[in-house]
Amino acid sequence: MTLFVCAIDQGTTSTRFQIFNQEGAFVTSHQEQLRQIYKRPGWIEHDPKEILRSVVTCAEEAIRRFELMGHSTKHIKSLGITNQRETTIVWNKDTGEPLYNAIVWGDTRTNKIVQRLQKKDTSKLQKMTGLPLHNYFSALKLAWLMKHVPAVKTSIEKGQAMFGTVDSWLIWNLTGGPNGGAHVTDVTNASRTMLMNLETRAWDPILLEFFGVPESILPEIVSSSEHYGDVELIKAIKGLPICGCLGDQQAAFVGQKCFEPGEIKNTYGTGAFMLLHVGDTPVCSKQGLISTIGYQLGRDGPVGYCLEGSIGVAGSAIEWLKDNMGIIENVKQVDELASQVDDTGGVVFVTAFSGLFAPYWRDDARGTIVGLTQFTNKCHLTRATLEAACLSTRAVLTAMRQEGHVELKTLKADGGLSNSDVCMQLQADTLGIPVERPAMRETSGLGAAFAAGLGCGLWKDLETVRSLYVEGADVFEADINNKDREAKYTMWEEAVKRSYGWTQ
Ligand code: G3P
Repeated sequence: MTLFVCAIDQGTTSTRFQIFNQEGAFVTSHQEQLRQIYKRPGWIEHDPKEILRSVVTCAEEAIRRFELMGHSTKHIKSLGITNQRETTIVWNKDTGEPLYNAIVWGDTRTNKIVQRLQKKDTSKLQKMTGLPLHNYFSALKLAWLMKHVPAVKTSIEKGQAMFGTVDSWLIWNLTGGPNGGAHVTDVTNASRTMLMNLETRAWDPILLEFFGVPESILPEIVSSSEHYGDVELIKAIKGLPICGCLGDQQAAFVGQKCFEPGEIKNTYGTGAFMLLHVGDTPVCSKQGLISTIGYQLGRDGPVGYCLEGSIGVAGSAIEWLKDNMGIIENVKQVDELASQVDDTGGVVFVTAFSGLFAPYWRDDARGTIVGLTQFTNKCHLTRATLEAACLSTRAVLTAMRQEGHVELKTLKADGGLSNSDVCMQLQADTLGIPVERPAMRETSGLGAAFAAGLGCGLWKDLETVRSLYVEGADVFEADINNKDREAKYTMWEEAVKRSYGWTQ
């Protein structure tokens, strides 16, 4: 009899529900797009109820397909959750109603709060949290909600408010909501709030005071792999234990089985996120990288810390080509267009729609296209959009090399944009090393399923997970000479400088 684990992958632009078997092989899934709400330039919101509804719909549809394949839900052992990180929700714990839309991780509305806080003593912040003081992280978004949304302020005063990143919102609702739902967050998600001390892995009173956050609204910090509660909300999987939870980039890291120091992966989703395993204690970056937790698999289980290079825009620039510019009709057309030309015709596109994240951390940067001529056409621009993700990745990898933690021989790639062969070839060319893309690219869901399978005892330990089934991989070899590679990167660095200082 084959056993199964399933995973909710609640990402920035879509929600998926995936089912894997006990060998770690993908069985079936369902995916739905998530509506993006843009009220003003720089603002990005999601409706928390839509997030929840999409989870329920995806679960029901995936289970329907699973049953049509002749399987029974009796054989599903547990559920894992992985999610877009930093996105911030505050809700009323008595009614379950959100008090405002979710403020999404790429939203830049908190720039003024950042500037105000920079006037305080910030000297200990990076060492304590591993993060730069930046609008990306949840504490800033929460500070904005407390200041600008009266319902949030009043609910806190009345002791009715709950704060959470998307993992907390989902687990609380799935396990019963106002009727006893579990208010928890795992260490990987907590490490992105800027309220958790990276070494103690607990909310830190100094940080809470710095951001003015009352501890009473925070979830309990738990490991990434343990029993948090059972599903109440979804009929098709009612009673299923929830035993895994990781931020989506950390989940992809676990899904790629990066369990040893020196192992590294890059996920090309809405943004792109490179995570490098640095061991079981945090390392403080001097080169603009984030220090974060990769996983804690069990209350007393193994802990892996990471250096992370976060790139704010990757796949979302392709969506922009489609939805805002109408240059492509669907994402599949990207490779068709980009492969019609040999290069970008001298165009460089710095896709700094939300400022620039690692390693630059410039919130005054904005999207900038340089090198346009009468010759430029949509194929060049499409290729330059793909190249932007690759050159941003090169900047992050350069920072990782400067930290002295990595001499990379191959890059493991995954995520939606890694489906583009042109993008993967450009990545190999810009880095000068091979890029390896696994056949199974839904690694965030797989990582959450690994955590859930470990949490419910389906798999004994990391060694067992390591030995699980892996499908083959495509390898893209670098195909340009060093001189051209360096020239391309020099142009990129020039263009990046020109993207600075464009805030209104
Ligand atoms: O930190 C943001 C990240 O978690 C978003 O991931 O996959 O939605 O690009 P993704």
